[in-house]
Amino acid sequence: MPYTSIDFNNSTVLITGGAGFIGSNLALYFQEKFPLSLIVIFDCFQSGETLDNGNLVSFGHYKNLISFTGDIICGNINKKEDLEQLNEYSFDYIFHHAAISDTRVYDQELMMRTNVNSFYDILTIAKKDNAKIVYASSAAVYGSLPSPQSVGIESPENPYGFSKLSMDQIAQNFQIKNPDIQIVGLRFFNVYGPGEFYKAKTSSMVIQLGHQILSGSPPRLFNNSNKILRDFIYIKDVIQANIKACSPSRYSLYNVGTGAPRSFQDIADILQNELKTNLGNEYFQNPYNNYQLNTKADISRNNELNFQPKFSLEEGIKSYIPYIKRMHNKDYL
Ligand SMILES: NC(=O)c1ccc[n+]([C@@H]2O[C@H](COP(=O)([O-])OP(=O)(O)OC[C@H]3O[C@@H](n4cnc5c(N)ncnc54)[C@H](O)[C@@H]3O)[C@@H](O)[C@H]2O)c1
Repeated sequence: MPYTSIDFNNSTVLITGGAGFIGSNLALYFQEKFPLSLIVIFDCFQSGETLDNGNLVSFGHYKNLISFTGDIICGNINKKEDLEQLNEYSFDYIFHHAAISDTRVYDQELMMRTNVNSFYDILTIAKKDNAKIVYASSAAVYGSLPSPQSVGIESPENPYGFSKLSMDQIAQNFQIKNPDIQIVGLRFFNVYGPGEFYKAKTSSMVIQLGHQILSGSPPRLFNNSNKILRDFIYIKDVIQANIKACSPSRYSLYNVGTGAPRSFQDIADILQNELKTNLGNEYFQNPYNNYQLNTKADISRNNELNFQPKFSLEEGIKSYIPYIKRMHNKDYL
């Protein structure tokens, strides 16, 4: 069943970060459901450049787009000359997902430049084209606030969370100055599903634990993992939210989670059940100080969006297993 009555055929759609996890899933969704739409991906792809924490600066990967038939522009959202290549299009919809998505990057200058400065440029394009814009915010804006996390009460505890909160404020101010442009922010909670393999160490614990189990090792979990709860949301539900976000007619900000938090232990148990293993678990001390112990999206305002998550953790992991198996022991090249 389509997520919306909007016919995106004959629309021109920009997806920044379209070589990444969520962006590539969105691009392939449009391609399949709306074959007459023109999808333009703007992404800098992986260059091999790494950050202080050893992780890549960007995770976009060509293998996420093997079956993609739209236009691809390799460019950096931090470079105006790269963004100028988008001027030859007139966009109806813009999905802005390009970002430093690694929550453990502490280079504030790089984080703010990439996630925040570029947002002004994307908004300028949206204004020029009168495009509807949907952008990726994050549950990281809530830091370690108690559950449930609600829009309007934020307390980010790292540069990443602050950059996303800044984007939310910029969007709100932009909407006040430009009431005719529709803009919607989506605060994703913990997303998992096909397409995230190339995020390597920053991919979800679902695939990381899945690959440990497939290697014959017990899943490695922090002590008390049965008490560490997160709001895990399956990629298909995230795509649903992106599509439905095209409908509201004013600025809004929504949490995208299930509202039903589950534990890391649940993930390990469901995976072992699906993979038919009985390897036990290996527990170790959580090395992080500022670690979210309980997230639960307050999705009470999502009625406006008509967003209804469909996948329980059990259903999401079941649907995800073939990809987890396929990517096991693959290299990142
Ligand atoms: N996956 C999650 O659980 C989650 C949770 C909350 C928010 N988000 C947000 O959702 C969006 C998509 O996340 P994702 O999980 O797909 O991450 P991702 O890292 O797979 O995708 C981000 C994409 O942006 C591209 N990119 C990074 N810097 C760029 C630059 N300077 N110029 C051009 N492209 C650049 C990367 O190459 C990558 O393809 C991000 O904005 C992220 O912060 C994701």
